Amino acid sequence: MAVSTSSVITLNINGEKHTLPVDHRTTLLDALRERLDMTGTKKGCDQGQCGACTVLLDGRRAVSCLQLAVAAENREITTIEGVAEGDRLHPVQQAFLDLDGYQCGYCTPGQICSAIGVIEEHAAGWPSAVTGDVRPEAGPPELTAEEIRERMSGNLCRCGAYVAIVDAVARAAGTAAGPAGTEEAAA
Ligand code: FES
Ligand code: FES
Repeated sequence: MAVSTSSVITLNINGEKHTLPVDHRTTLLDALRERLDMTGTKKGCDQGQCGACTVLLDGRRAVSCLQLAVAAENREITTIEGVAEGDRLHPVQQAFLDLDGYQCGYCTPGQICSAIGVIEEHAAGWPSAVTGDVRPEAGPPELTAEEIRERMSGNLCRCGAYVAIVDAVARAAGTAAGPAGTEEAAA
């Protein structure tokens, strides 16, 4: 008996359900872009290296090129098309606009989704690789420029807009990360 290599799945994207047949090998990124015409999520390397395809899965950032669409059923998927509230931009989107956190814009949807995740991870008290004191009693680290660069290091920007990206994340987080741009480093 032949084994089926496709299934009909339902994806919950930005609060809406989408039912579609997919080959089991289809990545979430390709399902979004090629099957559902949601092209806000970008394909860069297609192998988990650049972060251009970052979305939020149950509120946590994930590179959609390394997720199978069939494994994303029953997850809350948020893409760049779903972060604004109607005409009101998400604070991270607004900060990127106000501070020119981009040049060509290709990496920007992934940067913004990742930044939303960073701000929530920091608010939850998660340390990063550059956090000096990781003892629970030390409390959450200050979201400095160094912390932002480290936490955003999975998102590459070929245009090198890192200085403004760090400033935008800092503004959106409501912190005084200070003059973030003395070094090129978000990646
Ligand atoms: S396209 Fe997914 S990480 Fe580069
Ligand atoms: S703005 Fe062009 S790749 Fe980042």
